[in-house]
Amino acid sequence: MKLLLLGGTAWLGHAVAEAALREAHDVTCLARGSAPAPEGARFVRADRDAAGALHEVSQERWDAVVDLASEPGQVRRAVRDLEPVAAKYVFVSSCSVYASHATIGADESTELLPPLEADSMAGMEQYGEAKSACENAVLDAFGEQRAAIVRSGLIGGPGDPTGRTSYWVRRFAAPSNEQEQVLAPDAPELPTAIIDERDLADFIVALATGGATGAFNALGDAHPLPAHLDAARAAAESSAEVVPAPETWLHKCEVTQWMGPRSLPLWFAARDWYGMNARSTERARAAGLTLRPLAETLGDSLRHELEHGIPNPHGAGLTDAEERELLAELARAQQ
Ligand SMILES: NC(=O)c1ccc[n+]([C@@H]2O[C@H](COP(=O)([O-])OP(=O)(O)OC[C@H]3O[C@@H](n4cnc5c(N)ncnc54)[C@H](OP(=O)(O)O)[C@@H]3O)[C@@H](O)[C@H]2O)c1
Repeated sequence: MKLLLLGGTAWLGHAVAEAALREAHDVTCLARGSAPAPEGARFVRADRDAAGALHEVSQERWDAVVDLASEPGQVRRAVRDLEPVAAKYVFVSSCSVYASHATIGADESTELLPPLEADSMAGMEQYGEAKSACENAVLDAFGEQRAAIVRSGLIGGPGDPTGRTSYWVRRFAAPSNEQEQVLAPDAPELPTAIIDERDLADFIVALATGGATGAFNALGDAHPLPAHLDAARAAAESSAEVVPAPETWLHKCEVTQWMGPRSLPLWFAARDWYGMNARSTERARAAGLTLRPLAETLGDSLRHELEHGIPNPHGAGLTDAEERELLAELARAQQ
């Protein structure tokens, strides 16, 4: 099949292009050229912020377009230019489009955030509204029968540019103190989920080349945080001990949640966010989503980082010095 990837050169997009090439599809990637497209794909250089960016690709017919953008203006212009020449449009969205993350097991019919009216986000805090506006643009132009919307959960696996999904396996592989302790939030029921970018890429290609349409939650299997830590320890072949820290104490020490510097990745303290990583994936599974075991994703991520380096060494989690200091502080506080 003839597939146009709007993107296809960064992390997930590159994996989608590779997955499609493995299945012998004819793949074109359109991007500005910050990174190369995979070997075997045709590359079209264009900046989607320019009005006529898609002129060249809108002269051809496509079996499917896969769009990885988050800026509504880019998607509004793309569906306008490509609807006449593309049979199907697959939009890579996010579970951040949902208005609430309180319910565990919520499906795709849950209320969405209001769509962003502007063509560009003022900042990443508008990401959910922006993706919601992109979804609307795709559905308005292509209709339910010619569109597939992939609402992805947290993506992990080899090469995660944020370094956040590999934090725990990396911690177990290289503990920060001599006692081999790993500081973790005391949150035994916190759901975590990571979808491997390779599984997500295969699913996106299946949607682009198959008949399934509509919206799909695409998340990894939900594991409570202690099970994620067990999988990370096993993948790292580590015997390090988890030291659970009370959430209120972590707040007091200004440890942040989810991602970013001085954070404990995957941690959400607010119980009304516990549904974020535990949504129903029934529709996606019925449409062909298959997931590899978490331990495989974490083991492969660790091996990738050992070989290629940590992509964002200070971008996610605690540094060694921060973790050592916090462990010592917690031990003193608990005496
Ligand atoms: N990471 C997560 O946990 C997570 C969770 C849910 C959903 N998602 C979604 O998953 C997708 C991830 O995609 P990705 O890993 O491939 O990375 P990305 O950084 O979102 O992809 C950007 C792609 O678009 C191209 N691009 C950016 N600006 C452009 C412009 N002005 N004109 C033309 N092309 C442009 C980039 O190439 P150039 O820079 O060369 O132009 C690149 O190929 C995104 O849709 C993201 O929102 C991610």
